[in-house]
Amino acid sequence: MIPMVAKRAVTVLLYVTVLQSVKGFLLHTNDRWIVSESGKRVKLACVNWVSHLDGAVAEGLNQQPLDMISKRIKSMGFNCVRLTWPLFLLTNHSLASLTVRNSFQNLALLQSINAVQAINPSIIDLPLIKAYQEVVKSLGENDVMVILDNHVSQPGWCCSNTDGNGFFGDQYFDPDLWITGLTNMATLFRGVSNVVGMSLRNELRGPKQNVNQWYRYMPKGAEAVHAANPEVLVILSGLNFDTDLSFMKEEALKLSFNGKLVLELHWYSFSEGKAWASGNANQVCGEVTGNVMRRAGFLLGQGFPLFVSEFGLDLRGSDANDNTYLNCFMAFAAQFDLDWALWTLGGSYYIRQGVVGMNEYYGILNSDWSEVRNPSFLQRISAIQIPFQGPGLSEAKPYKVIFHPLTGLCIIRKSLVEALRLGPCSDSDQWEYTDQSTVSIKGTYFCLQAEGEGKQAKIGNICSAPNSRWEMISDSKMHLSAQINNSSGVCLDVDTNNIIVTNTCKCLTKDNTCEPASQWFKLVDSTRN
Ligand SMILES: *[C@@H]1O[C@H](CO)[C@@H](O)[C@H](O)[C@H]1NC(C)=O
Ligand SMILES: *[C@@H]1O[C@H](CO)[C@@H](O)[C@H](O)[C@H]1NC(C)=O
Ligand SMILES: *[C@@H]1O[C@H](CO)[C@@H](O)[C@H](O)[C@H]1NC(C)=O
Repeated sequence: MIPMVAKRAVTVLLYVTVLQSVKGFLLHTNDRWIVSESGKRVKLACVNWVSHLDGAVAEGLNQQPLDMISKRIKSMGFNCVRLTWPLFLLTNHSLASLTVRNSFQNLALLQSINAVQAINPSIIDLPLIKAYQEVVKSLGENDVMVILDNHVSQPGWCCSNTDGNGFFGDQYFDPDLWITGLTNMATLFRGVSNVVGMSLRNELRGPKQNVNQWYRYMPKGAEAVHAANPEVLVILSGLNFDTDLSFMKEEALKLSFNGKLVLELHWYSFSEGKAWASGNANQVCGEVTGNVMRRAGFLLGQGFPLFVSEFGLDLRGSDANDNTYLNCFMAFAAQFDLDWALWTLGGSYYIRQGVVGMNEYYGILNSDWSEVRNPSFLQRISAIQIPFQGPGLSEAKPYKVIFHPLTGLCIIRKSLVEALRLGPCSDSDQWEYTDQSTVSIKGTYFCLQAEGEGKQAKIGNICSAPNSRWEMISDSKMHLSAQINNSSGVCLDVDTNNIIVTNTCKCLTKDNTCEPASQWFKLVDSTRN
């Protein structure tokens, strides 16, 4: 029996806990990690939601009810939205006070007016700025964090070198007005607990871009946001469409505050043109990953979180260039356990670049926002939606999982008698890669062994022979290769039933037509329980 006094104390404690979890999201940084108030890692697994196009209205409200879209985001496993906004929405009162209806009328989007009126009647006559706030609120009600991303100044599709929105001093990019808009936005969402960060400006670019001006203005923007709203993470883009932060190797950024700065990086297949499809996949992956490390990845080692705030591909799945890129990207994202935001949520736009109802094949949802366009892709990225490592996750000592980027699965061993197969990474054994190049199960004498070409890989306990020494070969370093006899090596692979086998190593170099990704594996550090 609990005495009355103690009972009251318990009640008070519970109440405090509830308050905290409602207040909830406040984030800061600890070394390269984003963490909660209690210091536990929070991995940003976001999706971009476009709200910066001509009408300056969050897309999709003509397709599905707002609350349903928010719930769908949550149920797809995303914990966060990078919600874009055009600067002028926060600096031009006439624009901000235009209703959704007026905004669509100006664009002759009569069907969208009727649809929003029918599907989201509470939104259609709201001023644009209030409609934006409603979207943030709906996400908050569904436990989804928001990063406010200043995507452009002038509402409209982004980004080109010559669109006047690219760099300080461009036609639509006045630095002072930018500071004003950031301050207004930060102030508007002060105290809104699910707003956890602000991306200060998307994809800096164009003929005017340069490092000196970056160091001149970005700290000003960062300080303005911090002064107006000290609770948000301040997220800064690099140059060249947010692919290059290499200059930060030389010169530190001086800010008056600590523990809030995050750098963002964008990585698409088309940054390399068609190289992914026209080159050897191992060589392209090795080379591009090296470039990304030099341009941005090194920041992790300097103690900054790196947020890949845009990556994505044509989810119809038929673009060979995109598919090879994604295999390489998935390995990188898992290896460094990055924070990220998929481009993009919606499968269609009200109007984009003059085309009414344009389809978006990068959208995780289909054209009418009713279904997931490509469920196997969602399944695949679910592997990187939850953290592998980071402060406060578990007491477990670091171990390796053997990640298979093509499927988003990991090698698992159900029992000693069953075949090794691919399965959810959360079911992975705790593997270890030793100095002798064996891949063994931690704390045991068991290790991974090649039995021969076309045969299942096995677990054995004689681990000194060449068939249990696994070298990471090819430029991608993702082929795990062992010797089966004095003239032949094999690579780890999967068969059509996801059973782990060994086969002749595929297209290690030169061959530009073959696709090696079934043989790509990445040993990833994990402390998951
Ligand atoms: C402000 O917004 C209104 C409504 O969209 C537009 O007509 C006007 O040109 C804008 N003003 C400026 C200075 O951009
Ligand atoms: C080595 O293994 C390969 C692949 O199984 C086989 O074709 C070859 O005959 C073997 N060589 C020797 C010397 O056993
Ligand atoms: C190759 O031959 C050497 C010497 O005969 C032997 O020690 C070694 O284990 C052999 N390697 C394989 C993979 O069979």
